[in-house]
Amino acid sequence: MTQIALVTGITGQDGAYLARSLLNDGYKVYGAARRASTRNLWRLDDLGIADKVEIVYLDLLEFTNLLDLVRRLRPAEIYNLAAQSFVGVSFEQPLYTSEANALGVLRLLEVIRAVDPKIRFYQASTSEMFGMVHETPQRESTPFHPRSPYGVAKTFAHYATQNYRESWNMHAVSGILFNHESPLRGLEFVTRKISATLAQVAAGHDTVLGLGNIDVTRDWGFAGDYVEAMRMMVAANTARDYVVATGQTHTVREFVKATAQALGLDLAWEGDGATERAVNRKTGKPAVVIDAKFHRPAEVFSLQGDPARIRADLGWKPRVDFAGLVEMMAKADFDRVKAGRAIY
Ligand code: NAP
Ligand code: GDD
Repeated sequence: MTQIALVTGITGQDGAYLARSLLNDGYKVYGAARRASTRNLWRLDDLGIADKVEIVYLDLLEFTNLLDLVRRLRPAEIYNLAAQSFVGVSFEQPLYTSEANALGVLRLLEVIRAVDPKIRFYQASTSEMFGMVHETPQRESTPFHPRSPYGVAKTFAHYATQNYRESWNMHAVSGILFNHESPLRGLEFVTRKISATLAQVAAGHDTVLGLGNIDVTRDWGFAGDYVEAMRMMVAANTARDYVVATGQTHTVREFVKATAQALGLDLAWEGDGATERAVNRKTGKPAVVIDAKFHRPAEVFSLQGDPARIRADLGWKPRVDFAGLVEMMAKADFDRVKAGRAIY
C-alpha cells in the first residue's frame, strides 16, 4: 500500500529535499503551502518534482484548515517544516512568529490527537533553542536558553511535542537540527547570501556583500543529509528526540573565505571590528564590508552539535562536509549567474 505523507512548508528548502526523498521511496506526497499571489515552487522545479507533489493549501494559523486537511488526506506521517524561520525577522514580528512556530504546532498536535493519534509526527526543532549555550558541544541533555522570539517559540513547540508523546502515546518526535544549507537555501540566510553575492562579484558584477557579526560560529551541514535524519526518526521503533549536526564548527568569516577561494576570488582583508573589509585584489574594490544593520538585538554566538546519539541509535551521519557544502553552493550560484538565471 502506498504510504501517504503530508509535508508542511513544502515551498521551503527542507520541504523540497524531503519531498524528493519521500517520492524516491514511493510515497504519495501532499505538500502544504500557504496561498501566495505568485507561484513559489522554484525549489520543487529545481529538483524536478513540482508535478509529482500534490499541493494543498495550509496555514498554521487556521485550526479548521488543519483539521479538514488531516481528516481528508489521512497521512501516515506528518512532517511539520512550516515556520517563520528567519531569526532576524522574529525580533520584528514576535507575535506572528509565535502564532506560527509555537501555537501552530500545538494546533497540529491537537488535530492529530483528535483525528488519529497513530499518525507519526515530526517537528522541526532547532539548535537556536540552545541559544546562549550552557555547554559545548550541545547534545540532547543540554539545557535550553533561547535568544530570540524564534528560539522561544520553537522551544514551546519542542516541549509541546514531547508532552503529546508522553500524554497521548503519540509517535511525535523533534529533530534538534543545527544549521543546514544548500543551493536551495533562502537568500536572507548568511551562507546563501555569501554564495550568491560573491558569485556575482566573481562574475564581474559591481556588488558588495554587507554582513553583521562575522565572528559567530555555526555547525553547518547539508540539508539533503538532514532530511534523511527526519525520516529515520519518524520510522524508528522508539519515538525519541535527536540532535542532528556535523560536530564541526566554523565562523562566518571562514565561510566567506572558503567561498571566495572556491570562486577563485582573491580577497585582501584589512581593518577590524566595524571597519573590517575585504577588497577584491583584481578590481581594487571592496567586496565584503561590515554593516551594523545586520546585527541582532541578542546573538547566538556559537553552536556546535554532538550527533553521537542519532549515530548510535539510527546510524545517521552526514555525507557532505564543510568544504563540500561551500563548493556546492558557490558552484550552483556561479552557474546561475553565468547563465543569467534568476537568483531567488
Ligand atoms: P524555509 O526555507 O524558510 O521554509 C519555511 C516554510 O514554512 C516555507 O514553505 C513557508 O512558506 C512556510 N510557512 C511559513 N509560515 C507559515 C504558515 N503560517 N503556515 C504555513 N506555512 C508557513 O525553512 P527551512 O530552512 O526549509 O526550514 C524548515 C523548518 O526547519 C523550519 O521550521 C525551520 O524553522 C526549521 N529549522 C531549519 C534549520 C535550517 O538550518 N534550515 C535548522 C533548524 C530548524 P512560504 O514559502 O509561503 O513563506
Ligand atoms: N542572515 C544573516 N545575514 N546572518 C548574518 C549576517 C547577515 O548579513 N551577518 C552575520 N550573520 C550571522 C547571524 O547574526 C547569525 O549569528 C549567523 O550569521 C547565522 O545567521 P543565519 O544564516 O540567518 O541563521 P541562524 O543561525 O540565525 O538561523 C538558522 O539556523 C537555525 C538553526 O540553528 C535558521 O535556519 C533557523 O530557522 C534555524 O533554526
